[in-house]
Amino acid sequence: MTSDIQQRITALTERLHHLNYQYYQRDISEIPDQEFDQLLAELAQLEKQYPELAHPNSPTQRVGGTITKQFPTAAHRYPMLSLGNTYSEADLREFDERVRKGLEGADYAYVCELKFDGVAMSLTYENGQLTQGVTRGDGTRGDVVTSNVRTIKNLPLHLRAGSPQPPEFEVRGEIFMPLPVFSELNQEREANGEALLANPRNAASGALKLQDSALVAARRLRFYAYSFLMPGRSIFPTHSASLAALSAWGLPVSDTWRLCGSIAEVLDFVHEWDKKRFTLPVATDGIVIKVDDFRQQELLGYTSKSPRWAIAYKYPAEAARTRLNAIQYQVGRTGAVTPVALLDPVPLAGTVVKRASVHNANQIAALDLRLGDMVFVEKGGEIIPKITGVDFTARPGGSEPIRYPTECPACGTPLIRPEGEAHFRCPNERGCPPQRKAKLEHYVSRKALNIDGLGAETVGRFFDLGLVTDAASLYELPAKAEELAQLDRMGEKSVQRLLAGLEQSKQVPFDRVLFGLGIRYVGETVAEKLANHYRTMDALMAATATELAAVPEVGGVIAESAAAWFQEPDNRAMIERLRTAGVQLALTGEAPKAMSSRLEGQTFVLSGVFEQHSRDELQALIQAHGGKVTGSISKKLSYLVAGDKMGPAKREKATELKVPIISETDLLAMLPSELEATGPSEADMAVTTELLPAAAVTPAAPSPSSASPGQQSSLF
Ligand code: IVH
Repeated sequence: MTSDIQQRITALTERLHHLNYQYYQRDISEIPDQEFDQLLAELAQLEKQYPELAHPNSPTQRVGGTITKQFPTAAHRYPMLSLGNTYSEADLREFDERVRKGLEGADYAYVCELKFDGVAMSLTYENGQLTQGVTRGDGTRGDVVTSNVRTIKNLPLHLRAGSPQPPEFEVRGEIFMPLPVFSELNQEREANGEALLANPRNAASGALKLQDSALVAARRLRFYAYSFLMPGRSIFPTHSASLAALSAWGLPVSDTWRLCGSIAEVLDFVHEWDKKRFTLPVATDGIVIKVDDFRQQELLGYTSKSPRWAIAYKYPAEAARTRLNAIQYQVGRTGAVTPVALLDPVPLAGTVVKRASVHNANQIAALDLRLGDMVFVEKGGEIIPKITGVDFTARPGGSEPIRYPTECPACGTPLIRPEGEAHFRCPNERGCPPQRKAKLEHYVSRKALNIDGLGAETVGRFFDLGLVTDAASLYELPAKAEELAQLDRMGEKSVQRLLAGLEQSKQVPFDRVLFGLGIRYVGETVAEKLANHYRTMDALMAATATELAAVPEVGGVIAESAAAWFQEPDNRAMIERLRTAGVQLALTGEAPKAMSSRLEGQTFVLSGVFEQHSRDELQALIQAHGGKVTGSISKKLSYLVAGDKMGPAKREKATELKVPIISETDLLAMLPSELEATGPSEADMAVTTELLPAAAVTPAAPSPSSASPGQQSSLF
């Protein structure tokens, strides 16, 4: 029996590793995402049932779920040095002169690579298995972040056989956040009213420090390998041969590197990538030039800080000087007012820049910006260029400081600035046109109702024309079909598609409808938690802020915001119109069947990491036996169920309030034995899983697609 299971686990593991390799290294999707997810879910299920058979490098590790409170540190076997930097071509020629002299007339070649702007990482592979990932740290010791590194989808957890592989070696490379992922995450954060990630590099280094590897997985980091190190003499004669081998073993090596026979060819490479690098989906800040031959590298040796056989050429920070013509104040979905600078168009880093971000009112004052000023714009790692300073020598006479508006530029409502927030906000959530329009755009967006044939632009146009006013009014569009077909760029076919899309959207599950309403702070995850907890819109609307805050993972701020939203008569009326239209306002599918009423009247808080079941599973079990799960510890609480790594504050509070603290085993022992339960009697795994929300059966994935290779370019 166990050997059958072992065989199935091995077969699934090998298949999933292979599919990952095909997808991330070779851009080949052999099977649809859904099938991939099914295989992964099957493996996760088997590993849960037979934890002793689970492999630390199982493909299921990619979705994360491991919590590390404090990362241990480890010494680097070979110090992680930095590179000498230069910004000038003359310096590059001097570097070449030093190399020539050092090699005493022997022939030599360089490998030119792009310098990726992320976080350096040292990976150890033993017998083809990834065993450790360590950050650079101070160059001699770094943090061991292996479980976080295992979530990086293009990074192989085990290597392909093939050309000879040393039993143990180290691969170094850069972990980064792809630019499209960076902008997508920031858009989501902005929409949810969360703090923005400063730039892709900080986003990557911040992610690696997260304690919960499931959150790291959600950051969709990627890796490029650029060095191979092994004890003793390398089995490869050259760096270029080692890069080719790394690729063949399944490690991601950016194919942008080039072997150059002379410094002239190196300079060609530098020029070629000066502009072309902006077409890559990864931030780069220069070129790394390395002597190719490993023996020659040894001969040239090191200074105390960096190798003499390599140098980094950095492209000058991309900056331009142009005129600031106006400041436009944009109002976002949640009412946040963001100043945007309108500039004389100027070429910068491969594009023409006409607009730049100024972040907020403080920034305008800090830079002392005035209309008509000549300003410096820079494109750093950020996507939108930003104003970094003013050329005061060119300031026109008589200019005055910019006065930040006190009223909403769109609807005239006095702006407010909640304490601790950088942005001014228009509180007229329901009356302010750009807010209403942005809410509609959000409602039809991919992660919400995903209405085929109705993108942000079209819905914005309909709004401007007065054809729609809010989410519910979308469902009145069929009555206006003729009018729609008369519109420019619409036509019969597009209207048909749109109407079909609207009809289909009535099948979108309740949690996504809830997310689509655009309630401040109610992002995808919170919407899912609320929907699973309350199951119907009516139950959710009846909940008070205190009750909402008791739902696990729903904090006080979110609860207040949601409760206030549901109290508004206009919002309640809109929900009724959505109901009439036939939109899903309740979870369909069976509610978890009651198995017993053993825990009736008892409330539990689940905290920490559990061994036998995931937190979602325990919650489902408690509810199936009539108990309640809440998020906060109060006097009324019956039990605090303590898992591994539970925070000390929770323990202290429970002790202070004399709330009994029990273990997972204690909790399970409180449940009736399988025969006593009134539910299905064969309480085997199949029955248990039937009870659980889907998210608990597949490994706790932060988003439905995070486990599958995904559909965009293989890098993401
Ligand atoms: S080689 C001895 N190659 O740049 C140093 N580094 O100061 C060997 N980096 O933080 C490093 N892309 O993480 C090398 N293609 C590349 C690189 C690269 C980015 C980073 C590296 C380190 C810094 C070097």
